[in-house]
Amino acid sequence: MKSMLTAKEIRAAFLDFFKSKGHQIVPSAPLVVKNDPTLMFINSGMAPFKDLFLGIGKPSNPRIADTQKCLRVSGKHNDLEEVGVDTYHHTMFEMLGNWSFGDYFKKEAIAWSWEFLTEVLKLDKDRLYVTIFEGNEAENIPKDEEAYQEWKKVIAEDRILLGNKKDNFWEMGDTGPCGPCTEIHVDCRTEAERIAVDGATLVNNDHPQVIEIWNNVFIQFNRKKDNSLELLPAKHVDTGMGFERLVRVIQQKTSNYDTDVFTGTIEAIEKIVGKKYDRSDSKEAIAFRVLSDHIRAISFTIADGQLPSNTEEGYVIRRILRRAVRYYFSYLDRKEPLLHLLVPVLAEQFANVFPELKAQQDFVAKVILEEENSFLKTLESGLKRLESIIKNTNNEIDGKSVLSYTIPLVFQKTLPALLLRNII
Ligand code: SER
Repeated sequence: MKSMLTAKEIRAAFLDFFKSKGHQIVPSAPLVVKNDPTLMFINSGMAPFKDLFLGIGKPSNPRIADTQKCLRVSGKHNDLEEVGVDTYHHTMFEMLGNWSFGDYFKKEAIAWSWEFLTEVLKLDKDRLYVTIFEGNEAENIPKDEEAYQEWKKVIAEDRILLGNKKDNFWEMGDTGPCGPCTEIHVDCRTEAERIAVDGATLVNNDHPQVIEIWNNVFIQFNRKKDNSLELLPAKHVDTGMGFERLVRVIQQKTSNYDTDVFTGTIEAIEKIVGKKYDRSDSKEAIAFRVLSDHIRAISFTIADGQLPSNTEEGYVIRRILRRAVRYYFSYLDRKEPLLHLLVPVLAEQFANVFPELKAQQDFVAKVILEEENSFLKTLESGLKRLESIIKNTNNEIDGKSVLSYTIPLVFQKTLPALLLRNII
């Protein structure tokens, strides 16, 4: 495996590769979705192309590739609670993708994904596994034999695993374009671990070192409101490769946060709080991961036009921001605003790929600072009230008093929004 490629070089290698296969390279669409009631934020690389898959409109090119900013903190794909606790889920992440709109299909998509991973990035073939859709009787969809046959040309049969509807039939939401998918997984464990336990048994089993890196979806259906599947007039390819995970694999790290996608932000946090990130599972280390993850989601959504607020999409952003504040306030001993100081670091890092942040850096930092100030005030006054209850009751507080003081304080403005969004 190559170990010296930077994140920037890996992103460029992907785009260059698909350019060489006749793809037009397009910029990421904004994270904020304004005209699709089924989606709060762009949650996958294919979401901006949803209409094209449904046959509405014409693409600028039948082959497109890009890196798309995605947010998975609401709706069908929601990873928020894992973020920071583990080392590979994120709120905002980049999805590298190549698309065929009624052009190439399984044969080319599978051959190119294999070529890119094993010949361009030189991943060890014997660390890779693939999964294909086993079929589903209730949906009346057979096993994806075509994908199986294509994989057989490049990989040993015992590395082609069958997957069920949950893992190998991709849907963007409750309705919309969907289809069977084939995923590529990589086993990053040590040699000794690999000898002791067969990697095939760990695929799709939440093992932190045996992870999915690329999903190739073969879009053939539209899921309708009544849950039925309608065959689309044309067949399409939608692929998504988690950029942060890919960089981690190529840079041979065991955590996404140890790659140069995150280390710049983590170093900036270390300087601000005067503590060292020790990569452990301690609350302090989780706080470093939470902050370096959340600042990306917060900054890029604001830059893309969504301000934090008490309702709907705005509340999702406010909730992420407040989770970050709670983490630095509680576990990094930081009582002053911090997040806004990280905006320039991110803006610089992503200037070449997502220039919208650098262009609005001061505005974004100002919005974040105001949010931090107001939430820190709430947290501080909450603590003061709690201290005064403790004093007035000789250190014996009954649950009722705590609830009567803290619930209104923390939830007074947010409870309706939380209930509305099914968050609590
Ligand atoms: N739509 C698929 C996914 O998000 C592949 O891009 O995983």
